[in-house]
Amino acid sequence: MKTSIIYESIKLNDNTYIIKFQDNENIGPGQFIMVWVPGINEIPLSFSGLGDLKEITIKIYGKASEHIAHLKKGDTIFFRGPYGKPFENVAGKKLLIGAGTGIAPLVPLINKNAYGVLSGKTGEDIIFQDRFEKKSIVTDDGSYGKKGYAVDALKDIDLSEFDMIYACGPEIMLKSVMDYIININGKAQFSLERPMKCGIGICDSCSINGYQVCTDGPVFSLNQLMEMPEFGNTRLSYSGKRIKI
Ligand SMILES: Cc1cc2nc3c(=O)[nH]c(=O)nc-3n(C[C@H](O)[C@H](O)[C@H](O)COP(=O)(O)OP(=O)(O)OC[C@H]3O[C@@H](n4cnc5c(N)ncnc54)[C@H](O)[C@@H]3O)c2cc1C
Ligand code: FES
Repeated sequence: MKTSIIYESIKLNDNTYIIKFQDNENIGPGQFIMVWVPGINEIPLSFSGLGDLKEITIKIYGKASEHIAHLKKGDTIFFRGPYGKPFENVAGKKLLIGAGTGIAPLVPLINKNAYGVLSGKTGEDIIFQDRFEKKSIVTDDGSYGKKGYAVDALKDIDLSEFDMIYACGPEIMLKSVMDYIININGKAQFSLERPMKCGIGICDSCSINGYQVCTDGPVFSLNQLMEMPEFGNTRLSYSGKRIKI
């Protein structure tokens, strides 16, 4: 278990915060850490900023994320990792498709040739828009940008132009993106968020068709996902029961 002192906390909106802390580890885009909240839980979080000062971006869902989101400058963060396979970071034109906090792990991939598709339920969910020079914004309720889902924004974009497509967000969104791009541009990587307990390939809570998302992923290629009938369909609950997504 590592510890670090919080260097800065930035409130992005009512329930989303950026936390910055010092860590000299070399971390790849898309890798994650397991952040421990004593007496509550340990949860996976990816990096929205790499470099000596690391940055995580967290949305409050339950007790653990609430505690981490409310850490202040000078508080201690407990974590282990980095874990998981990173995105392959190509030099050419990149299309970055993110929904909600799924935008966060895509931020380290931004270069001058990057185009962002940022989506969310409402305008509140659109984060990091200022980091993208070129972008489309869509929201489910139309409160910001165009009304629609990430996949709708893709219809206005020439996908064949891109050397690599990257996507992160709820699995249902990733599946719709995969189904849309499959015959247009197969050069794509997707980062999956499945329930995780150990983060190191022991407990099987993150399994998908024989793969473990924590060690074989969280980043998978489009070709790998095409071989996984569970993708976008079913997952294990925290108690180990297979449930519909
Ligand atoms: C590899 C990986 C990377 C991740 N990176 C990030 C990140 O960078 N930033 C971030 O904010 N989150 C990230 N997550 C999700 C984060 O781990 C969960 O939000 C967290 O585990 C919630 O824990 P909790 O104890 O606060 O809430 P819980 O008590 O576990 O959940 C409370 C309620 O919210 C629901 N819920 C929990 N998480 C989500 C979710 N992600 N989407 C929709 N509903 C949810 C639960 O089903 C439950 O109903 C990542 C997950 C994975 C697997
Ligand atoms: S979280 Fe335990 S095997 Fe992946």
